[in-house]
Amino acid sequence: MSNRVYIFDTTLRDGEQVPGCQLNTDEKIIVAKELEALGVDIIEAGFPISSPEDFRSVQEISKAVSEPVICGLSRAVEKDIQTAADALVYAKRKRIHTGLGASDFHIEHKFRSTRAEMLERAERAVKFAKSLVEDVEFFAEDAGRADPVFLAQMIEIVIAAGATVVNIPDTTGYCLPHEYGAKIKYLVENVKNIHRATISVHCHNDLGLATANSLSGLINGARQVECTINGIGERAGNTSLEEVVMILKTHQKLGLHHQIKTDHLTPLSNLVSRMMRMPVQPNKAIVGKNAFAHSSGIHQDGVLKNRENYEIIDPGQVGAGASSIVLTARSGRAALNYRLSLLGYQLDKPELDRAYEQFLLLADQYKNIDEKHLETLMRQVGVGITA
Ligand code: KIV
Ligand code: ZN
Repeated sequence: MSNRVYIFDTTLRDGEQVPGCQLNTDEKIIVAKELEALGVDIIEAGFPISSPEDFRSVQEISKAVSEPVICGLSRAVEKDIQTAADALVYAKRKRIHTGLGASDFHIEHKFRSTRAEMLERAERAVKFAKSLVEDVEFFAEDAGRADPVFLAQMIEIVIAAGATVVNIPDTTGYCLPHEYGAKIKYLVENVKNIHRATISVHCHNDLGLATANSLSGLINGARQVECTINGIGERAGNTSLEEVVMILKTHQKLGLHHQIKTDHLTPLSNLVSRMMRMPVQPNKAIVGKNAFAHSSGIHQDGVLKNRENYEIIDPGQVGAGASSIVLTARSGRAALNYRLSLLGYQLDKPELDRAYEQFLLLADQYKNIDEKHLETLMRQVGVGITA
């Protein structure tokens, strides 16, 4: 099995389903071009049957982007599949993503159907999609809660019908990492024709486990991961692209690699956040405003001695510029001295002691101390610029 992991970005489909995050076609093209520059392998550009604007978006993205595979979502219904194929007509490399429910819960309460009928519908849908495009991905919705034996049966049938990729979504974000990993392993070991398809992981974050579950799936044999910029998506979101790619890059021992140009991550995170009007939480891994900010005295002193005392990722690697030393009432002398040196002040020990005393009073009053405060502080303690 190859160790190359394919990055399938669904920011413009699952991500865009978030209320208030809808983008128009022009905005989607801008994001799609940036995803191409980032190096994603597949862009899920939309759900063409869902609206005329989504159809147009998939069509226009197909024209605007040439490297990644462009994928369109459809239910396992002929009209949906045909519409997806029509929307993808200009794509240089195209994929139809079709599927239906695999858990007994979905079969009974959503489809009001039976296992046997679902198997037939799945096979028919994949065969029809295959008659229109070569690359067909099948999703077994709610696979996270599905019986593994039935799931394996469904996956074997759709691969025989022509599916090139089989997506095993944890649609409700229910699984624990070891359970999800075991499910993927079970498919690797029990689906006779599994070598003819790529297994894809698609995890939701309802319990905050989307990234952990995706990683567990990859470790157990999946080779495609479905994710979004900033982890946006239905409810608590999807697996965050930046997290999964930086985990694989940081833990080279896993032996899994991808082609993402990681220095594009922070700028793209900012672009998506701005366009979708969806702020990124400051403590978000990799792309949060505080991901490389240090504010307590002990950490600041450690980082100033050697960045790797408290950082496992070089912020430059993810396009975040440099680490920042934030001045608060928890900061120490080393941090104050460092920030003053950036402004051109060189203080001897007695001056620094005096400045630090005044600094603590200011920091208690203002919480975050910025450059204006530092200039005032230097005037108060009578120190001029020396560098
Ligand atoms: O979460 C899910 O199951 C999905 C499918 C449509 C792939 O988004
Ligand atoms: Zn999803």
